[in-house]
Amino acid sequence: MSKLQNEVRGSVKKAEDDILTEDDLIDMHYLRAVIKETLRLHPPLPLLFPKISNQDVKINGYNIKANTQVIVNAWQVARDPKSYVYKPEEFEPERFLNANSGLSYKGNDFELIPFGAGRRLCPGVHFGTSVNEIALANLVHEFDWTLPGGVTSEDLDMSEAASGTVIHKEDPLKAVAIPYSSA
Ligand code: HEM
Repeated sequence: MSKLQNEVRGSVKKAEDDILTEDDLIDMHYLRAVIKETLRLHPPLPLLFPKISNQDVKINGYNIKANTQVIVNAWQVARDPKSYVYKPEEFEPERFLNANSGLSYKGNDFELIPFGAGRRLCPGVHFGTSVNEIALANLVHEFDWTLPGGVTSEDLDMSEAASGTVIHKEDPLKAVAIPYSSA
């Protein structure tokens, strides 16, 4: 969080009441890495929408007949240690600034598909990521955040639960916002 705050608070100087807009975020690489890492570990739609093969194919030694329903597990794909050699289960936004910096989740890099890939790729990729960037940047720009009741980030239960096809944190996050003043 402090790394993200340094980036967000350091790169823009705003008047007290102004909120950050998309134009302020252009050079915020760590912000984008944090969101990418969040979508890698916690894709809201862990199983992509079912697809049907339109012809017989062989993938990685498996024969898939035409008209077979196929469901891609994007959650598992994004934790594969073959693609993410360094601590695949850990939250490490830096991975997207270093070895995997070129990885995009816009459908060309199959190891990162929180928005799917191909012709059914989510049409809301840009809108979804922009809204997340603006919201998160403003939240960490305006507030310092702690966990209530002596809870540490190591204690935080990150179990997920499903509501229909979408997953969310099973135990809602409770956090304390402390207004930040740069003065
Ligand atoms: C962080 C936010 C979002 C995530 C993670 C997300 C993820 C996804 C995923 C995984 C799919 C299925 C792709 C597949 O099965 O191959 C999908 C489909 C879709 N998404 Fe999103 N989405 C997000 C935001 C949005 C927004 C903001 C909109 C609309 C404004 C949107 C509209 C749609 C639509 C219409 C489809 C169906 C596309 C089709 O089947 O052709 N999504 N999304």
